[in-house]
Amino acid sequence: MKPFEHGGNVYSAGVRNDEWLDFSANINPLGLSDSIKNSIIDNMESLVHYPDPTGTLLKQAISVHYGVEPDNIILGNGAVELMYIYFHTRQPRRVLIPVPSFSEYERGAKAAGCQIEMLYMDKEQGFVLDKARLLERLPDVDAVILGNPNNPTGELILRRDLLKILSKAKEAGTDIMVDESFLDFLATDKEYTVLDMIKDYPNLLVLRSMTKFFAVPGLRLGFGVANAELVQKMELSKDPWNVNLLAQMAGVAALKDKTYQMDSRQIITGCINYLYNALSAIDGLKVYAPSVNFILLSVEACGMTSSEFVQAMREKGILVRDCCNYPGMDQYHVRVAVRLMEENQKLVEAIKSLLAER
Ligand SMILES: Cc1ncc(COP(=O)(O)O)c(C=O)c1O
Repeated sequence: MKPFEHGGNVYSAGVRNDEWLDFSANINPLGLSDSIKNSIIDNMESLVHYPDPTGTLLKQAISVHYGVEPDNIILGNGAVELMYIYFHTRQPRRVLIPVPSFSEYERGAKAAGCQIEMLYMDKEQGFVLDKARLLERLPDVDAVILGNPNNPTGELILRRDLLKILSKAKEAGTDIMVDESFLDFLATDKEYTVLDMIKDYPNLLVLRSMTKFFAVPGLRLGFGVANAELVQKMELSKDPWNVNLLAQMAGVAALKDKTYQMDSRQIITGCINYLYNALSAIDGLKVYAPSVNFILLSVEACGMTSSEFVQAMREKGILVRDCCNYPGMDQYHVRVAVRLMEENQKLVEAIKSLLAER
């Protein structure tokens, strides 16, 4: 397996006099909300206690916000922890992963000893998921992992297509894990989410990260939604205090803060549109249509590899994500996060000047 590498690794980015402009991790550019900051300060004294192992307050808040029952919720130290717990609990023998996609799907499955089957999405077709091929493969595997939207391509799968996949998978006795970690960035997710489908599909686990939209990757917080039996099994396979006290309380505060949620969606939508249009206007750059707060680019027609591009951008103080270590990806793709307007303008100017220098 390729070495551990993700965006947002500011620790290995090296020392600079100025701050790095970090476009390599897909985090809400509005940053920490006051509600989360205040919750952390207000709850600091409680650190002398263990966190609530049942996570009752946070599960109630998630239940109200997302319309799912507390018994169907499992809390995670980030969504990624739940991937690892899921594979260890379910022990699927053969796991099908459409790629390129988030590399922790493969790492988590391998850590549990699963055999990985890749379903390669075709670059010539814009890395679009071939649903017909996926349906054909369902009976041969024990689990399928789908990112919705998929990272790094940004492709969204429509709920009606997922329902077809779920029903065929149920017939075939195949589990489906859908990672909806970025859906909070959409104004409405009703055409895409399958959170409510856990009642009809005992073979379904839906994951949500709270670190992306609420800008707390350093705090770690996510949750999974599944039928109560699977939730119980996963609960028994984890550390009882996996989600720390500050993260639980910050999650409750974040879900109550509707102003931050609305402002984030409104501001980020404007920034996505600006960045997509401005990047698309740069000669030689291929820009994939974004769905949420990140954009996939190909620098192949600029006569550079992604690694050369990333290095040249670092020299300008900007971190972008080299996608060459995503399974199923070539050596020409780069992912950029959408940040605030002024920062996006700096990114566009830096790319223009880099390409002009060549
Ligand atoms: C598709 C996807 N899911 C989940 C995560 C991680 O979520 P968390 O920080 O909650 O573990 C990432 C992080 O990059 C991601 O890209």
